[in-house]
Amino acid sequence: MIEAAPATASDLLAALHARAFPKPWSATEIAKLMENQAVFALVHGNGAEAQGFVMGWTAAGDSEVLTVAVVPEARRKGFGAALVTAAGVAALVRGAKSIHLEVAEDNIAARALYAKLGYEEAGRRHAYYAGEGGSIDAIVMRRDLPRPTV
Ligand SMILES: CC(C)(COP(=O)(O)OP(=O)(O)OC[C@H]1O[C@@H](n2cnc3c(N)ncnc32)[C@H](O)[C@@H]1OP(=O)(O)O)[C@@H](O)C(=O)NCCC(=O)NCCS
Repeated sequence: MIEAAPATASDLLAALHARAFPKPWSATEIAKLMENQAVFALVHGNGAEAQGFVMGWTAAGDSEVLTVAVVPEARRKGFGAALVTAAGVAALVRGAKSIHLEVAEDNIAARALYAKLGYEEAGRRHAYYAGEGGSIDAIVMRRDLPRPTV
């Protein structure tokens, strides 16, 4: 089940982030981000059973997925797709018309995930990430969010 992560969840989110990224965000950095009213965090599962989370922001009709992480043993079970979809829903209900993100050019899994969910390449930031073998471009991907019909 995906739920909004409370402000007190920064330690849990940092632990999940550390299992998914070589340069993880600290609990302090995550807590600081979550102080921003524009930022939302959603977690899949509870406490020690949590499998992953997503963070994003929404402001002035735009939104961004800041990070998404699923622990290695829980991958390829649909949790990443569920989290990114939930981020889109969270952005939509906060008034966003579109959502975007940045992904390293060599992150095949994440690029495939976003493409499956309707994100399309919208730009490129040259040498955006520092990689072991040199710098790596960031691909900017975005998608429109569906307009609710009433
Ligand atoms: C990217 C990440 C969140 C995907 O999470 P996940 O739970 O494994 O993703 P899902 O199971 O929902 O996969 C959905 C789709 O994404 C694509 N995908 C996911 N992992 C893939 C992989 N290793 N190779 C190719 N395609 C992949 C597939 O299209 C998949 O659908 P399918 O399983 O029906 O083929 C996860 O690999 C992760 O945490 N990676 C490290 C952190 C990271 O890179 N985050 C993104 C930063 S931009």
